[in-house]
Formats: sequence, C-alpha cells, structure tokens
Amino acid sequence: MSFVKVAKVSEIPAGTMKHIEAGGKEICIANVSGKFYAIGDRCGHENARLSTGPLEGTVVTCPMHFSKFDVTTGKLLSGPKLETGGAVKMFERCPEDVQKAMTQMFRRLAESQSQIKTYDQQVYEVKVVGSDVLVQL
Ligand code: FES
Repeated sequence: MSFVKVAKVSEIPAGTMKHIEAGGKEICIANVSGKFYAIGDRCGHENARLSTGPLEGTVVTCPMHFSKFDVTTGKLLSGPKLETGGAVKMFERCPEDVQKAMTQMFRRLAESQSQIKTYDQQVYEVKVVGSDVLVQL
C-alpha cells in the first residue's frame, strides 16, 4: 500500500469534507480542526455519499437516513432513522385514497429499509505533505 495525493489542503477547509475517488474507492476526506481523516464515502446502509451530509465535530450524518459515523474511527454511532412522516406529509393535499396508498407504500419502504444492517466505515491513513493531502491505498 502506498500514499496517493488526493487533494490540496486548501480544498478542504476546517469543518468540511470532500469526496474523492482513487484506486477504485470512494473516500470522504474530513478536516476536523485542521486534522485530516478519511473514511469510505459510501454509507454502509444504502450507499449514500457521506461527504454530502453535515459534519459536526467528528461526526458525519448520512444525508439519506441519518446514520451517524465518527470520521476519526469510522465507527457507526447510531443506525438509520427511518421516518415516513415527511414523505407522507407531501401528499396531504391529495385525495384520501392517494394519501392512504402513499402512507402504506412509505411504511413498507421504511420497514424493509430498517432490516438493512449498517456497519462501521473503512478508515484510511491520511498524511499531509506540504500543501497536499495524501491517502494510503
Ligand atoms: S444510506 Fe446512509 S443511513 Fe441510509
């Protein structure tokens, strides 16, 4: 395994993340208070891109179903939160039979999605050389 240059330090300000692709992998690079971390950028639940979710301290929240991961360890902190309320609410102006059908569909979807297990994210070694961010692949 060797280190590969994936970004410039200036491209990832503190408190932000960047999606990169290298060595056939999708990786989320996070800058936490000036220190860089790298974890897999495909959520272990249903593959959403974690780098598009919010980063608060060392915790990234998946934008799709809100699983939380620690970017310093890749550990899953909490599993997906599957709610139907927001989606069902979009149909509240529709005829009653449409509302019922959509409610039923979203409940079934949430039920089947809740059975998909979510795991820790792969972690990659990161180092900064000059103005470059390198990841070990
Ligand atoms: S895709 Fe990330 S929690 Fe569902």
